[in-house]
Amino acid sequence: MIRTECIKIGAERPDPGVIARAADVLRRGGLVAFPTETVYGLGANALDAAAVARIFKAKGRPERNPLIVHVLDAAQAHSLATWTPAAESVAARFWPGPLTLVLRKSDAVPEMVTAGGSTVALRAPSHPVARALLAECGLPIAAPSANRSSAVSATRAEHVLRALDGRIDLILDGGATSGGIESTVLSLVEAQPRLLRPGLLPVDELEAIVGTINRAKIADPGSAALAAPGMLERHYAPNGQLEIAPDDGYSRVLELVRSRHRVGWLRFALKEASSQPFAIDRLRVYIMPRDAAGYGARLYDVLHELDAWAADRIVVELPPSDDAWLAIHDRLTRAAAR
Ligand code: TXA
Ligand code: MG
Repeated sequence: MIRTECIKIGAERPDPGVIARAADVLRRGGLVAFPTETVYGLGANALDAAAVARIFKAKGRPERNPLIVHVLDAAQAHSLATWTPAAESVAARFWPGPLTLVLRKSDAVPEMVTAGGSTVALRAPSHPVARALLAECGLPIAAPSANRSSAVSATRAEHVLRALDGRIDLILDGGATSGGIESTVLSLVEAQPRLLRPGLLPVDELEAIVGTINRAKIADPGSAALAAPGMLERHYAPNGQLEIAPDDGYSRVLELVRSRHRVGWLRFALKEASSQPFAIDRLRVYIMPRDAAGYGARLYDVLHELDAWAADRIVVELPPSDDAWLAIHDRLTRAAAR
């Protein structure tokens, strides 16, 4: 058990004194949780295998699941991977931002970071706190999302503290993250770019730069475990059992409430026809934004609130199926997997 310190920091203009302290913790091999524009990350010096090993231990993360290395910009990432012209052009267009690129790794990257694999995931975050920390320590920072393995990612410092108190050195509390959903992971190691994880950066924006992206899930489970372990496992799951309704979820919610469950219901809008009153003390209804970006920004927050309220069932109204909702369907489907 170590003492976890939580320090508030301005999200727009981070206090240089606080950033200097956090950079010092990283240089000495410690673990620092920090906000990014997607979710909170749990960082360690990516070039220090022992520090990186502490991330896996703190999260309870399987060591075969590789980490994303955060960098200030493409220039800092050049020595970490083999850069292709396609990689240069997407990085020039989308960094800093919610895009992770998978490239062939260089010898500079410890195998602990890549789970023994020959590729490395790289991302330059745009959040001012993350950027200030990267600039101050001058190191690449390995950082998965700051949650226990398989649990819902943290979008607030409170979520990080609840999950990792006593397991990490420092939390920089920059308030709620704006994106709310993880970065898009794009592999550029094959002839055709491949989507390994849909995320905050919409796929159509990427396709405008790199051409058609292979969206197929990798069929062979053996190779999938190596290419994108996060794509296989139950992931992003709240404590309550989550199900995606084939409709607005009303009849399922009614059934669950009547059989005495504590139910969370994520829906788009209350319709007059289905708004008969029922057992409100065992039901929490969240009216979700109708746009994918707004929905994504709110989703994990709602799931954390339902965990804190001890919901044992969560019913989600079926979201739209167009591309903008790809990442949300992905996270909901995985949260529903048992
Ligand atoms: O938005 C984000 O990406 C956040 C913030 C903190 O940057 N990070 C994040 O990290 O979501 P994590 O570890 O929770 O998810 C990283 C995903 C996992 O699915 C992992 O398997 C995949 O990226 N990944 C990492 N390295 C990889 C590699 N070399 N090849 C394929 N997939 C990789
Ligand atoms: Mg994660």
